Amino acid sequence: MPGCFAIHLGAGQEEHVKITLSVIKADIGSVGGHIRPSQALLQSVRSWLDEHRDGLLLDCAISSTGDDIALLMTHRHGAGAEAVHHLAWECFREGTRVAKSQGLYGAGQDLLKDAFSGNVRGMGPAVAEMEFEERPGEPFLFFAADKTDPGAYNLPLYLAFADPMNTPGLILSPGLSRGFRFVVMDVSHTEGDRVIELNAPEDLYDLAALLRDGERFVVESIWSRETGEQAVVVSTSRLHNISGKYTGKDDPVMLVRVQKDFPATGEILAPYALGPYVAGSMRGSHQMPLMPVPLQSGISYFDGPPSVTCAAYAMHEGRFTEAVDPFANPFWDTVRNTVAEKAISMRRQGFFGAAMLPMSELEYTGIVEKLKALEPRFQMRPVEKPLAA
Ligand code: F6R
Ligand code: MG
Ligand code: MG
Repeated sequence: MPGCFAIHLGAGQEEHVKITLSVIKADIGSVGGHIRPSQALLQSVRSWLDEHRDGLLLDCAISSTGDDIALLMTHRHGAGAEAVHHLAWECFREGTRVAKSQGLYGAGQDLLKDAFSGNVRGMGPAVAEMEFEERPGEPFLFFAADKTDPGAYNLPLYLAFADPMNTPGLILSPGLSRGFRFVVMDVSHTEGDRVIELNAPEDLYDLAALLRDGERFVVESIWSRETGEQAVVVSTSRLHNISGKYTGKDDPVMLVRVQKDFPATGEILAPYALGPYVAGSMRGSHQMPLMPVPLQSGISYFDGPPSVTCAAYAMHEGRFTEAVDPFANPFWDTVRNTVAEKAISMRRQGFFGAAMLPMSELEYTGIVEKLKALEPRFQMRPVEKPLAA
């Protein structure tokens, strides 16, 4: 019952000295199709969290990207803390009640299990968390992408953390010159976390060999080799691996700590000017360019284009400043125009070739049934025997 809910820290869940930055996001319903949550839904999530966060969170900020709602939280309970995950789960359940009451489409879509069981991982919502000792100035970026999957961040991360053509800091700044350690996950392995660690720059070609296939290999985290500090964490869940059927694209979130011994904000943002083709958009089954969009943007053309927002923050003792919106700068208007042209150009070829994802990645099963139904209509043409000499 709303209002009566209370979460307490369990045994062994004492406070840590370090700060944990957690983002947990879910699609729990939207207006006008898979477009954007309603204001009432966002407001209900905001008020519920405000009412129930005491004693658990240091701070929180609620935002939406496309049809997804993200809870950005700071606390001292470590990554994977049951109490924090439970809070987020109940918050999404409360939002789902409001989504249903408004007749929103896909109400509760990403809540794939009936009851909370210790951690939202594997239950539908996407999670990205990291624990660190706060620096005297702690700038970080929170990215959220809709209508795509976590492989969408592979190229921007490779360019920002491993390529001096993008990141001059790799040759100019002593803090960056030892390079970064990438942890890459094989997301097609569903029986557990199958990961590999690769060091840039030595393992650059091996890293590229994996990251080219963003449907299978996904950057999970990146660490400074100078300080051992964590710079990046990406949510790596694949919804169709959890539910066994299509429930929407994974719509990944990512946290990136920036400046000093990490790349600068501008070096992290620069690769998004490319508008690379990624998996997603209509029915999660196409190749479309990734568009950097302002905060709280909705979705439009062809259930896309795949869109990414970035909220830039500073924090002190776990308390956030207001969010600054780097993709709102006029520079990105030109990028958006180019991305829109790329998107329209790809859509000209409809279902054909590179426009649609390969069979293994199609999110809807209609085509499999269609091919099965056509099977008996195929005939073997009799081989004509050559005339005897
Ligand atoms: C993509 C997405 C949408 C839907 C599409 C059809 O991630 O969510 O493109 O796949 O709008 O949705 P349904 O099958 O719910 O009518
Ligand atoms: Mg979504
Ligand atoms: Mg959705």
